[in-house]
Amino acid sequence: DMLLYSNKDFAGKKILVTAGPTREDIDPVRYITNRSSGKMGYAIAKAARNRGAEVILISGPTKLPRPEGVKFIGINSATEMYNEVLKHFDEVDIVIKSAAVADYRPLEKSEKKIKKSDDDMSIPLTKNKDILFELGKIKKNQLLIGFAAETDDLVCNAKNKVCKKNLDFIVANDVTMEKSGFDVDTNTVKIIDRDGTIIQLPNMAKEEVAHNILDHILNIKR
Ligand code: CTP
Ligand code: CA
Repeated sequence: DMLLYSNKDFAGKKILVTAGPTREDIDPVRYITNRSSGKMGYAIAKAARNRGAEVILISGPTKLPRPEGVKFIGINSATEMYNEVLKHFDEVDIVIKSAAVADYRPLEKSEKKIKKSDDDMSIPLTKNKDILFELGKIKKNQLLIGFAAETDDLVCNAKNKVCKKNLDFIVANDVTMEKSGFDVDTNTVKIIDRDGTIIQLPNMAKEEVAHNILDHILNIKR
C-alpha cells in the first residue's frame, strides 16, 4: 500500500468500516446481492490504518485481498453484518458504513435447490434491518458516517438519509456518472453534512476519497 500519510493523526481512534455487498441466500446455489466491489470501503480501512487508527473491517464477499494490520471480519448476509456491527459498536469511536447492504432477503431459504417448473415464479422477500438506522438510535459519542449511491435526486435523497439515520455526514455518489461508483478505482462524491453543507469533490482515486473523508471527520464541529 502507498503510504500517502506519514502523519498518524488517527492514533488512539478506533474505526469500524463496513464494505462490500451482502449476499442473501435463496437456496444452496442462488442468492440476491447488490453491485459492490468493496473497493471504497477497503480504501477507507487502509487509509485509516495508515493514519494510526485501530480498524475493524466488516466485509461482505469481495475479490479483494484482506488488508494487513486491520481486524477483519468476513460476513455473508445483512443479518450477519448487523450482528457483527452491533457487537463492536460500543468499543469504537467512528463507524463508516460503505457496505451495500441488501434491503431484503428471501423470507425462507430453501435447503434444497429449487427446481424449475413450467410456471412463472416469485420469491417472497422480507425486509432486512437498517443497520445505520439502528445505530443512529443508540449512538452515544460515536461519529456515524453513511454512504448513498443514487441514480437520481442525489442531494435530496442523501440529505434525507442524514436526518433519518441520525448521521454526522453522508458520502453521496451518483452511480450514473462516468469513472464513479461500482468496480472502478475512482469516484466522484459529495460530502453532505447535517447542516446541509455540501462539499463537491472532483473525480479522484478511491484512496484519495478515503483520505478526504478522514480529513472531514477531523474537521467537523460537534
Ligand atoms: N444501510 C444499512 N443497512 C441497511 C441498508 C442500508 O446500514 N439495511 C446503510 C448503507 O450501508 C449506507 C446507507 O445505509 O451507508 C444508505 O444506504 P442506501 O441503500 O443508500 O439507503 P436506504 O436507506 O437503504 O434507502 P434506498 O435503498 O431505498 O435508497
Ligand atoms: Ca438500500
